[in-house]
Amino acid sequence: MKTSEVLLNIRRSFKLTQEEMANKLMVTRQAVSRWENGDTVPSTDTLKIISMIFNVSINHLLGQYNNDICHYCGAPIDKIKSGVHSEIFKGEAMKNILVTGGAGFIGSNFIQYMLTSKIHNNIINLDALTYAGNLENLSTVKDSPKYTFVKGNICDGKLLDEIFTKYDIDIVVNFAAESHVDRSIIEPDIFVKSNVIGTHVLLEIAKKHWKKKPEDKYDREYKSGVKFIQISTDEVYGTLSYTGLFTEETPLAPNSPYSASKASADMFVRSYHETFGMPVNITRCSNNYGPYQFPEKLIPLMINNCINNKPLPVYGVGAQVRDWLYVEDHCTAIYAVMMNGISGEIYNIGGNNEMKNIDVVKFLISELGKTDNLIQYVKDRPGHDMRYAIDNNKITSELDWSPAYTFKQGMKKTIDWYLTNSEWMNRVITGEYEHYYSKMY
Ligand SMILES: NC(=O)c1ccc[n+]([C@@H]2O[C@H](COP(=O)([O-])OP(=O)(O)OC[C@H]3O[C@@H](n4cnc5c(N)ncnc54)[C@H](O)[C@@H]3O)[C@@H](O)[C@H]2O)c1
Repeated sequence: MKTSEVLLNIRRSFKLTQEEMANKLMVTRQAVSRWENGDTVPSTDTLKIISMIFNVSINHLLGQYNNDICHYCGAPIDKIKSGVHSEIFKGEAMKNILVTGGAGFIGSNFIQYMLTSKIHNNIINLDALTYAGNLENLSTVKDSPKYTFVKGNICDGKLLDEIFTKYDIDIVVNFAAESHVDRSIIEPDIFVKSNVIGTHVLLEIAKKHWKKKPEDKYDREYKSGVKFIQISTDEVYGTLSYTGLFTEETPLAPNSPYSASKASADMFVRSYHETFGMPVNITRCSNNYGPYQFPEKLIPLMINNCINNKPLPVYGVGAQVRDWLYVEDHCTAIYAVMMNGISGEIYNIGGNNEMKNIDVVKFLISELGKTDNLIQYVKDRPGHDMRYAIDNNKITSELDWSPAYTFKQGMKKTIDWYLTNSEWMNRVITGEYEHYYSKMY
């Protein structure tokens, strides 16, 4: 990370405007703006002052840190559970974040991102470990003192109540969901239970713990710094024809039981903001790809079948268009919403990267040195949406977020990951990953 980014992060962590930061450091606002743009760097004396005021090590300010030490004070990471950090960040940046569904694809990437880049947070991961939950995805962070795993269901209000009390939760990031459209066609009930009822139970418990006077229905005051972030999907908008983009104002028109359950959950989140004043954000992201994705989804399925010279099943003629985003970019977008999203707002997240499914498959075939002979066209899915495409103007202009990876760069990282983690894939395919929990806990 560059000094400019470190300074920006510090200012945002402490919720200061450029003017307030400038006043603290006795410099002009223009100087702060130039540092954050990377046009100049603070003098050595100013760096020392920043270091003292914000408890940040000089090495961190110079962008020279490693993940074994605290970004803020230089203390070894395995010692930081002790008091000093909670004192430094009390009421400012230190947060207890409940991540639900953190053993799944995006949730596990998000937890790793938070624990390696934004380490002044505690993460509590609540996951029911359905077929899609794999604790092996978190093996790199499982021993972090900032990470706690709880096995359980978001429909279990009693358990949620205990978690909110025990860990004093400030932020909920709700990834937990049944997420596979094909499964929702065969078994819609569990989508209603986990995605709709589960989200509602979470909202109720958050309201109970966060509202200053929970018993007063007219009271709209909440503990400071709390927020409920609902991770939704662009699929709630339904389908597009060949032109147009989904904006945050596009009416909801879900076409599958999966997207209907996600749209319904979004409506509950919205209603808790409107009726009870709960601080919330909803994010609606396009299709993700990257490490740790369950191989029932297009990209890992095709990579695995290519590697093993198995047929590549393509729905219809593969003409469906999706807007692909590398999962790490989704994580940075969620973090931007968490830090700076305006309460009650919805943010679409997408990478301006539309591709037909068949072109994604052909891209993988060529990257993996195979031929189109592997492609096998199969009967299309009922109600298959034709095209999704995201207008990401709101998040890019208002929250200063943009994707860091092009499709080619993200795909290269993804293919490399699957090639070097073939054992992960084998354990998932054989079902062996499901024994991991009983072995580890
Ligand atoms: N994958 C995508 O391309 C994409 C795109 C946009 C939005 N989303 C949304 O992001 C979220 C995560 O998606 P993903 O692809 O990581 O899904 P995933 O299926 O890989 O992971 C879901 C996780 O939730 C857990 N879970 C399911 N039901 C639960 C319950 N009732 N209580 C507790 N845990 C439960 C599962 O065990 C699993 O670990 C979902 O809400 C999904 O709608 C996904």
